[in-house]
Order: sequence, then C-alpha cells, then structure tokens
Amino acid sequence: MKVLVVGGGGREHAIIRKLKETPKITELYAAPGNAGIGCDAACVPIKATDVETIAAWAAENRMDYVVVAPDDPLAMGLVDQLEEKGIPAFGPSKKAAIIEASKAFSKDLMKKYHIPTARYETFTDVEMAKAYLNACEIWPMVLKADGLALGKGVLICQNRAEALTAIEEMMVGGKFGASGNTVVIEEFLTGPEVSVLSFTDGETVVPMVSSMDHKRALDGDKGLNTGGMGTVAPNPYYTPEIAQRCMEEIFLPTVKAMKAEGRPFKGCLYFGLMLTPDGPKVIEYNCRFGDPETQVVLPLLETDLLTVMEAVTQGRLKEINVTFSPRHAACVVLASGGYPEHYEKGKPITGLVNGQLPGGGATVYHAGTALKDGALVTAGGRVLGVTATGDTLKAALDKAYETAGQISFEGLHKRADIGARALSAKS
Ligand code: AMP
Ligand code: GLY
Repeated sequence: MKVLVVGGGGREHAIIRKLKETPKITELYAAPGNAGIGCDAACVPIKATDVETIAAWAAENRMDYVVVAPDDPLAMGLVDQLEEKGIPAFGPSKKAAIIEASKAFSKDLMKKYHIPTARYETFTDVEMAKAYLNACEIWPMVLKADGLALGKGVLICQNRAEALTAIEEMMVGGKFGASGNTVVIEEFLTGPEVSVLSFTDGETVVPMVSSMDHKRALDGDKGLNTGGMGTVAPNPYYTPEIAQRCMEEIFLPTVKAMKAEGRPFKGCLYFGLMLTPDGPKVIEYNCRFGDPETQVVLPLLETDLLTVMEAVTQGRLKEINVTFSPRHAACVVLASGGYPEHYEKGKPITGLVNGQLPGGGATVYHAGTALKDGALVTAGGRVLGVTATGDTLKAALDKAYETAGQISFEGLHKRADIGARALSAKS
C-alpha cells in the first residue's frame, strides 16, 4: 500500500514511525514532513493547509490511504476532498472537525446533550461581553477565542481588570484574528488534567491509553502556554473507575451527539479532561491526535495502527481488538529558546545521526527540523521530542532525559520536571 501522512511535526513523525511497523505499507510519504521525518518517509513539499494540491497529488500518485493529522486541513475539508477522489482517509469530515474548530459549537453541543463541562456564555458583541464580566463575582474566569488559534486562544484572567483588557484585545484588537470575533467566557475549573485520545468510527469509541501534557513553558507549570513541553502515559490520575465514568458520561454521549447532529465523527477524537471535585469535565475537544500526546501513546499501541485506522474509516471498529502495552512512556520536548514567543531558527543540532541518537534506547521525534547544506538545523519552536518507554514511569523518564541530554543546539530549552507531578501522584 502507498500511504501519505499529512503534516510535519512531532505527532506526524510518531504516526509515521508506527506505520513503518506495518508490513502492508510499501511506500510511505509525508506532506510536508521535516528533516527527521525524511529519514523514515519520502517528503513531498506541499504545505498541510494547501488542501487542493494535496488531494490532487494523492490522486495523481495513487495513494491507497491518507492520514490527515493537523487540525487546519481537517477543518478545511481535506478528508472530504480525498473521499470525493475515491481515496480513503483517516480523520473527520469538515462537518465533524467543527468540534475543535468552533468552541461555541462544542460548548453548545455539551450543553444540549448534558455532557459535563465548565459553565459558560458565548459572546459576539464586545459590550455584552464586558457587561457580563463586570457582573462576575467569582474569579478567575476563562476567555476562549471561538476558532483555531494554535492552542493559544485561551486566557485565564485573574480579575476583572485583566479580563476587560483581554476581551478588548480579542474582540476589537484582533489578537487572534477572526477566531476572536466570537468569545466563550467560562468558569474556571480545578483538578488534574488528563488527555484521552480515542479512535471512533462514529458509533464505537475505543479510548487509547491516557496521558498527561505539560502545557506551560517553564518548570513548576510557570510561564506561557505552549503547544506542549512533554508528556507521560499512562496518566496516574486516570483510574479505572474514572475511565468507566468518562466512557459513560463523556465519550459515548459525545460520539452519539455528533451522530445525532448529522456530523458523525470518524478519526481520532481527543478529550481534554479535568478531574474536578464534581467529577470529570471536558475542557476541550480536539478533532485529531494530540501533540505531544501521540509521542507517548502510539509507542504503547500493540495493535497494528493501519488496521485500526482502516477499521475506523470503514465503520467497523467494533470488530477490532485494540490493545496497549502496560508499560510507561515519557516524552521530553526540546524547544528553541524564547518559544512560544520569539525564537531563532537555523541553529545546528548536534548528537544525531540520521535523525536518531546512535545506540540510544529512546526515539527522537522531529517537530521542527530542517537540513541546511546537509546539516540538521532547528526550524521551529518545538524542535524535537525524545520518547522512551520503561517498566515504570521513572525508568521511562530517566531514559528520556538521559537521551535528551546528549542532544544540543544553541538556545535549547527543555523543562526539567516532565512527569514530576505524575510520579508524586503515584506514591
Ligand atoms: P485549551 O486550549 O482549551 O486546552 O486550554 C488550554 C489550557 O487552559 C488547558 O489545558 C487548561 O489548563 C486551561 N483551561 C482551559 N479551560 C479551563 C477552565 N475552564 N478552567 C481551568 N483551566 C482551563
Ligand atoms: N497537546 C495538546 C494538543 O495537541 O492540542
């Protein structure tokens, strides 16, 4: 089979490394991929958001299957376009991708179908939003831009003054572009966060092993929100009892709700959950694999990934037995200094041969790398993700950090405390 993976980050590299284990795949392509992905697949220089060109390329080159990983091409309808050309693809249709692409949609869906989430109001008028904030008595409050904003459209405001400034910036100042024209204002929830990615074909939902992201840039969960600085799996807070409750109160009701709305969801549905004192609640849905969650979840998947993906596309997920290893995985992200704000690119990376650490017991997933005159250089905010597995979380973390320590580039920033909270939760 000829398979194309759309995207070019650490998540896509993890998907590609897993698909490489599939004997059925004879040719593996990535669009656009990156320097590290280029060691595992043939990179096609088309941007992931250039959906017409990708669909045309896939048809011309007779792809048998396409995996669409990032949110933008999903929201733009790439899966629909591929299907029109007779190419089966993994990922939701445009109609279903709205579950991530519009926070107002997802909040209304949860309200209508009684799926637990933070209480909220949606605003399209800045004066009404300000009046609402002026009347709020409990702080902090959370402001969310309606549309896709690279994970940066969420602001936690500690007090009224902060919130009034932020709402002005979002709704009038165009801080998040058109994404900020509609804003959701919601109550602030507390509790451990859990990411649960799931496979669903629109009927059956199969949760993957749980994970924990570390969204803030600095140790101790300080600094700005990022796309994610590291992950561990499984998440120790996610007990079998909580998993059962999430299945009954959140996962199945969500899949049923999407079907009832005429938007059946096929692909990877990501549940961002908070385990509040009142039970698990949805913080956000994503219509795709998480990044860097995928880098710890897929290494633990025992079932052939392409088999599961095809079952999702064909609506026969219930026939497949999906299993995960009982081991642990940890991913440490190596970022460019200054990320998620301004950072420099083009810094030479040392320590890697053919994209990997020679003899290393860990896998290096490339997020933002490029080749410059044949040398590997940094090309993004998140540069690499180093994933290791182990019989214990501690063993996985030690191995990931040991390997990460052997890689360097100017300005390299990594958190030193990935997994620390998960380790203390265990004891
Ligand atoms: P999101 O982009 O929706 O995942 O939000 C980014 C981060 O903001 C989440 O991972 C949470 O840590 C935090 N967050 C979002 N919504 C809430 C909320 N209602 N209460 C507390 N924290 C939140
Ligand atoms: N790591 C969170 C996300 O992929 O949105």
